[in-house]
Amino acid sequence: MTAGEKEIRKLTVELGDRSYPILIGSGLLHASGALFKERNIPVKSPVLLVTDAAVEHLYAGIVETSLREAGYTVARATVPSGEQSKSLEVFDELITKALQAGLDRKSTVVALGGGVVGDLAGFVAASYMRGVKFVQMPTTILAHDSSVGGKVAVNHRLAKNIIGAFHQPEFVLYDLDTLASLPKREVRAGYAEVVKHGLIWDKAFVDWCDANADRLLALEPDALGYALYEGCRVKSIVVSRDERENDLRAILNLGHTIGHALEAVANYSELLHGEAIAIGMVGSARLAARFGYDPGIEAETERLMRKFGLPVRIPAGYDTDAIMEAMMHDKKFSEGHMVFVVPTAIGSVEIRKDVPAAWVREIVETLKGEAGRS
Ligand code: NAD
Ligand code: GLY
Repeated sequence: MTAGEKEIRKLTVELGDRSYPILIGSGLLHASGALFKERNIPVKSPVLLVTDAAVEHLYAGIVETSLREAGYTVARATVPSGEQSKSLEVFDELITKALQAGLDRKSTVVALGGGVVGDLAGFVAASYMRGVKFVQMPTTILAHDSSVGGKVAVNHRLAKNIIGAFHQPEFVLYDLDTLASLPKREVRAGYAEVVKHGLIWDKAFVDWCDANADRLLALEPDALGYALYEGCRVKSIVVSRDERENDLRAILNLGHTIGHALEAVANYSELLHGEAIAIGMVGSARLAARFGYDPGIEAETERLMRKFGLPVRIPAGYDTDAIMEAMMHDKKFSEGHMVFVVPTAIGSVEIRKDVPAAWVREIVETLKGEAGRS
């Protein structure tokens, strides 16, 4: 399949009769109307396009024009950019907007933006009239992860993603052209989750990312398309095998126990999600050494994160007690134990449900103590 002359990479998230495609390529926003029709997105019920303030003026018009030309009625809802929009207040505003726009049970909510818009709009789609259709149109590198797999959520001030649902999209339409406008810091943050997919599953992909870091940071189309395809491929395999995170899917949380706590402690306003996960992955690698695995895993994880311009230490001023408290509220805190994804080598991980809180505290302290040397 092509949009114009350009190649489109395609993957499928295999979930029986809820299976859906991920299309990755150039020019897809312009083709969205035709692609919606191909996927049987109902044309007679209004569509709600959710986006954020930065993405709106760049891309919303393109999507709306294409959808309207294909016969869709589209209402637009724009939220402020950034993690703080993943809140119950903004969720409530979007439900109001959906009602005002006359969305019915056959309507579709479209997320055009990064992971924030995807998680938020997805939660609206999961909740409105007990669930309507949902389309993901990711516009960040990081959202190769968030747009696949159906986890949708908003944050609580005490804990990230704690109010949410599983609600799979009808399909994922990933137009690589949108990534050219990403701020450099967002580009770097996105690669934390790309490398994560290698670290949990595929050493060869980690090696490829390492060798191609400069091309990836420069957004060279071939390298970018391949990296996002591989990241989505790993994610879809894992989700296909364990949609509801009964066991395997938890490996996708490498770096997230510490990372989510850092985000919550900073009130979702300082570290970008990918940056917090980068620091968290270094912390998990340090934990691996405590469990007797090769200490070289930490050095290698840290080197890779630095290569992508990502932070590897907890910034000064973060309170250890507050970080520990936030981890206790995390979904990965279970039956009185701290649960961590721990690397056992580059490219493989295990889930540890027996992590002593004292080890975690020590790791948080040492990751802070070395902040001056990061
Ligand atoms: P984001 O959505 O906040 O986007 C980052 C910034 O880039 C925002 O300021 C946005 O306005 C801007 N932006 C987006 N696209 C742009 C473009 N093409 N050009 C210019 N600017 C653009 O953040 P993110 O990093 O994409 O996503 C982070 C979120 O994803 C977190 O809330 C995280 O919890 C969530 N997440 C969810 C899952 C999941 O499985 N549901 C997985 C990973 C991450
Ligand atoms: N980001 C973790 C998951 O999708 O399960």
